[in-house]
Amino acid sequence: MSSRVAHKIILVGAPGAGKGTVAKGLVDRFELTHLSTGDMLRAAVSAGKEVGMLAKTYMDRGALVPDEVMVKLISERVQHSDCRNSDGSPRFLLDGFPRTLPQADALAAEGLAPDLVVFIDVPNEAVVRRLSGRRTCPSCGSVHHIEFAPPLKDGVCDRCGGGLVHRSDDHDATIRKRLDAFAAQTAPLVQRYGSVIEKVDGNQLPEVVLKAAVAVLRKHGNTGQGNI
Ligand code: AP5
Ligand code: MG
Repeated sequence: MSSRVAHKIILVGAPGAGKGTVAKGLVDRFELTHLSTGDMLRAAVSAGKEVGMLAKTYMDRGALVPDEVMVKLISERVQHSDCRNSDGSPRFLLDGFPRTLPQADALAAEGLAPDLVVFIDVPNEAVVRRLSGRRTCPSCGSVHHIEFAPPLKDGVCDRCGGGLVHRSDDHDATIRKRLDAFAAQTAPLVQRYGSVIEKVDGNQLPEVVLKAAVAVLRKHGNTGQGNI
């Protein structure tokens, strides 16, 4: 076990690798605030905010939103008290940020370089299948899949009863572009974070992937609830 507890944790993985699914399982077990930049941007779109309208033009075509927009969004968000331990030190689970080397540089410049990066590794063929069948709940953020994690009632969120939607960027042509963006702009982070990275095989059943991720957080000093 590491001598220090890792509280600045980042999930890295291709679109559809299961970052959101794993994050939900981790925050249920460890006291971490889940910051999904994709969810934050989609909330800004729904609220009709200027940053949301700008981001939508990139998201809808499977491109990354400009670094300066994302850095500002996260810099502000991590100041909130739910991203701090009682002694003021940072505590968060980032999902989808950083996604480029300049974003990683910006995080480090703020003294927030991660002490643990969990890389969820899944081959491209598997993620295409996952994304085309994904259904999400805009109300509570729950993620379902018509084949791999079907809701109890068609089109209805198991957690909050809200209506499930098919994300506008979850269509074949856009999925391919998102995968290209991941390979070109995000995959270099795996090398950058070499000293703090832990790879998890994401091409397994969801509960097996979660169990592996839980083991990684425990190895890095986190104590959590539950048996998994
Ligand atoms: P974002 O929302 O972060 O999308 P993403 O990275 O493409 O990842 P996803 O949310 O699509 O997938 P996931 O890994 O969370 O998988 P999930 O758990 O849902 O970003 C969207 C867009 O916002 C970007 O394209 C970009 O434009 C912009 N953006 C965001 N952050 C940015 C940044 N930092 N810089 C610039 N732009 C940014 O699982 C997928 C499906 O598979 C689900 O249906 C799930 O039920 C199923 N599933 C999960 N695990 C398993 C399993 N083990 N086996 C079978 N099925 C599984
Ligand atoms: Mg996600």
